[in-house]
Amino acid sequence: MKLTVTSLLLAGLVTSATAFAKPAANEKHANWATKVRQANFTLLGHNMGPIGGMLKGKVEFDAQVVKDKATRINELAKMIADTSRVDTSKFKVKTEALANIWTDKADYQQKIDALVTASEKVSQIALTAPKKDVLKAMGKIGQSCGSCHDSYKKD
Ligand code: HEC
Repeated sequence: MKLTVTSLLLAGLVTSATAFAKPAANEKHANWATKVRQANFTLLGHNMGPIGGMLKGKVEFDAQVVKDKATRINELAKMIADTSRVDTSKFKVKTEALANIWTDKADYQQKIDALVTASEKVSQIALTAPKKDVLKAMGKIGQSCGSCHDSYKKD
C-alpha cells in the first residue's frame, strides 16, 4: 500500500513536471484529443466573433458585450495548455495543428500567456476605460490569436 501511494505520488510529480506533452495512446485517443483541442479553439472563435466585428467597425461597440466575451476568452485561453496536452502528431488525425506545439512547448505556452493577459486586460477595462483604449486592448487579443496561428496552425 505504502509503495503504491509513493509511486502514485511520484507519477504525479513526473506528470506535473512534464505537464504539457503526453503522446496519444492510440488512434481513438488521438481523435478524441483532437476533438477536445479543436472544441476549445472553436469556442474561442465563437466568442471572438463580436469583438472582431467591433474592431472592423461592422458591429456596434458595446462595452458589456466586450467585457463578457473577453472574460470567456480569458477562461478558454486558460484551458489551452490542458486541451493541447495530448500529442497527436504520430497519428493520422484531421487537424490544422502543427507538430511543433509539442516540441516548442515553452514558446507555445508564451503564446497562450499572451492571450490570457490580453483578454484579462480587456475584461478589466471594458466598462470603465475610454472606448479608444478598449478597442486598442481588443486589438491585442486579435494579435495574440494571429501570432499563435502563424507558428502553430496550418493556413
Ligand atoms: C497558443 C496558440 C493559439 C492561440 C493563442 C489561439 N489559437 Fe486558434 N488555433 C490554434 C491551433 C494550433 C489550431 C488548430 C487546432 C487543430 O486543428 O487541431 C487553432 C484553430 C483555431 C480555430 C479552428 C478550430 C476548429 O474547429 O478546427 C479557430 C476558429 C481559432 N483557432 C480561433 C482562435 C481565436 C479567435 C483565438 C484568439 C482569441 C485563437 N484561436 C488563439 C492555436 C492557437
